[in-house]
Amino acid sequence: MLVDTFGRTATDLRVSLTDRCNLRCTYCMPAEGLPWLPKAELLSDEEILRLIGIAVHLLGVDQIRFTGGEPLVRPGLATLVARVAQLDPRPRISLTTNALGLARLAPTLKDAGLDRVNVSLDTLDPAVFRELTRRDRFADVVAGLEAAAAAGLTPVKVNSVLMRGVNDTEAPALLRWCLERGYELRFIEQMPLDAQHGWDRQQMVTAEEILATLEREFTLTPEGKAVRGAAPAETWLVDGGPGRVGVIASVTRPFCGDCDRVRLTADGQVRTCLFAREESDLRGAMRDGASDEELAERWRVAMLGKKRAAGIGEPGFVQPERPMSAIGG
Ligand code: GTP
Ligand code: 5AD
Ligand code: SF4
Repeated sequence: MLVDTFGRTATDLRVSLTDRCNLRCTYCMPAEGLPWLPKAELLSDEEILRLIGIAVHLLGVDQIRFTGGEPLVRPGLATLVARVAQLDPRPRISLTTNALGLARLAPTLKDAGLDRVNVSLDTLDPAVFRELTRRDRFADVVAGLEAAAAAGLTPVKVNSVLMRGVNDTEAPALLRWCLERGYELRFIEQMPLDAQHGWDRQQMVTAEEILATLEREFTLTPEGKAVRGAAPAETWLVDGGPGRVGVIASVTRPFCGDCDRVRLTADGQVRTCLFAREESDLRGAMRDGASDEELAERWRVAMLGKKRAAGIGEPGFVQPERPMSAIGG
């Protein structure tokens, strides 16, 4: 088991497959992109599968989420999914993606064993999408969402980061649009994980503001702790249900006390938290010939360094060196 000193157990492993992305969201990375990890530093498919196998067989992990950067840009994703789906016990397998290319890949991923997808979409206005992501790909995301739902990669969840003066007035329209299509929308408070270090607490659209805006047009009924479990999203039924909306309020309503997550970066480092200051080098140990049990033990020890809370924006808070695209969302 992956237990930390505060008694939390990590059962949900988030695996970043690449730090690269085919969008350039302004809240994530600069227009020119970032200095990408050299190929030799990335885990190979075999290395990823070995570490996932250790997590599932020796450490009690029962959920694998592939993230990026953008995980669909990694060649061979469907094969990776298929091989993870063959593990016994079989973990649940999900994907967090910007959905570019998903229109084509959704059926293949479903057949491979992918259970569900979370898709980032911050606006319904193609012009705002182009400005925000610096790419003219709104229609591809919509097609990707449709294909995911049609393929049964459900529940399809949509992630929206609201930014003041950019898309914050769109919250009710985004919710209506998602409800009509059966997607579960979650609004996310922006976190200080951008490569440019431009995050500003005062500029951030808070959960309270989002809820106040939504409550002008919808009746929201909290679903409470039993439904939420360890998930980052608090959820509300909309107009009596069955549709729901979530808010991921990492800054104003942190949920670290219930955290069940651990991360593996594309270059093979264990991170106990998005905001961890330290990483544990599994890639190096693996390439030096460590056995499965030695790697598992190194992973267990890494968990003991997990902090009680991320403390975003609190006194003494320091933004991690790596941006979100290199950590995995
Ligand atoms: P579900 O299993 O579908 O609930 O997934 P999720 O909401 O945990 O994952 P997703 O990849 O869709 O992430 C949604 C948002 O939650 C992103 O902004 C993530 O960065 C954020 N998030 C995920 N895990 C954590 C975490 O451990 N801490 C914080 N602060 N944010 C997280
Ligand atoms: N704060 C909060 N969410 C972010 N995402 C990307 N950068 C940030 C940030 N700084 C979102 C993406 C995607 C999910 C993985 O995280 O929009 O939906
Ligand atoms: Fe790419 Fe996601 Fe970052 Fe946007 S937020 S640039 S989609 S990694």
